[in-house]
Amino acid sequence: QSIIENETASHNKLSLKEAPTIQKQIVKKGIKDFKFGAVIGDGAYSTVMLATSIDTKKKYAAKVLNKEYLIRQKKVKYVSVEKIALQKLNNSHSVVRLFSTFQDESSLYFLLEYAPNGDFLSLMKKYGSLDENCACYYGSQIIDAIDHLHASGIIHRDIKPENILLDGEMRIKLTDFGTAKLLDPTNNTSSKSKYDLSTRSKSFVGTAEYVSPELLNDSFTDYRCDIWAFGCILFQMIAGKPPFKATNEYLTFQKVMKVQYAFTPGFPLIIRDLVKKILMKNLDQRLTINQIKEHPFFKEMNFKDGSIWSSTPPDIK
Ligand code: ADE
Repeated sequence: QSIIENETASHNKLSLKEAPTIQKQIVKKGIKDFKFGAVIGDGAYSTVMLATSIDTKKKYAAKVLNKEYLIRQKKVKYVSVEKIALQKLNNSHSVVRLFSTFQDESSLYFLLEYAPNGDFLSLMKKYGSLDENCACYYGSQIIDAIDHLHASGIIHRDIKPENILLDGEMRIKLTDFGTAKLLDPTNNTSSKSKYDLSTRSKSFVGTAEYVSPELLNDSFTDYRCDIWAFGCILFQMIAGKPPFKATNEYLTFQKVMKVQYAFTPGFPLIIRDLVKKILMKNLDQRLTINQIKEHPFFKEMNFKDGSIWSSTPPDIK
């Protein structure tokens, strides 16, 4: 926070009128402290723009949401869920940081950490597919990031390559928590987690290609939907396309419900084995995050000492 002239602010709690002797004070940054640039992302309910601080020249990603549209579409809840989730995860290196929120008459603004290397979908599209080494590097970070969310009592529910960003060091950062589920803390002392991971939620569909069969068949999901989505992304890294893809959503859903997918020629056997054990319709047979981390595919990765986040990123392909 910086000290700026008092006139800037409608956000200021102490106005000049109320405190005439205070000429300068600590003021929350406002929209006019940023220069807005190119559109760098687009969602159903938001537009993400590059925003540069006029003062420090530091770059941010400003997520802009139109208030009227949110109200009309009954999506106001998404905004508060996203804010709570991001605030809760604000010290996580694997999640985009939320620096500030503002609003004006028409819009809400989330001032987010800018991830300069784009999203993981664009990376895969640029290279067609990734090799085993890259799949191991990015896969280990993605599963560790999901583990961290769950341990913080948050289910993402829309894990997909577009929602995985890449920072300046090519480390992954999860984004887009609008459809997250915030779990209730549990007072069950025998439970390993502080949160009630058995929470089931209804009436939510993420993105067709990454949606889990339990949501389509039984209309519920729990934290294991994020693990399913991870399996789909791991497949996609090697195959260059998601496992369940069809010409329309309906046909995609049918494939998901039947767990109907085929490995591409040359798909490495060790990753085949892991994908098969994750893409299990039966939730109790689906690998847990700890089992994924212990799978031979990740045997070189040490998930305990933080080294997966500090190693040099591999050359792509
Ligand atoms: N697109 C959407 N969110 C972004 C962010 N935080 N950084 C870069 N590009 C983005």
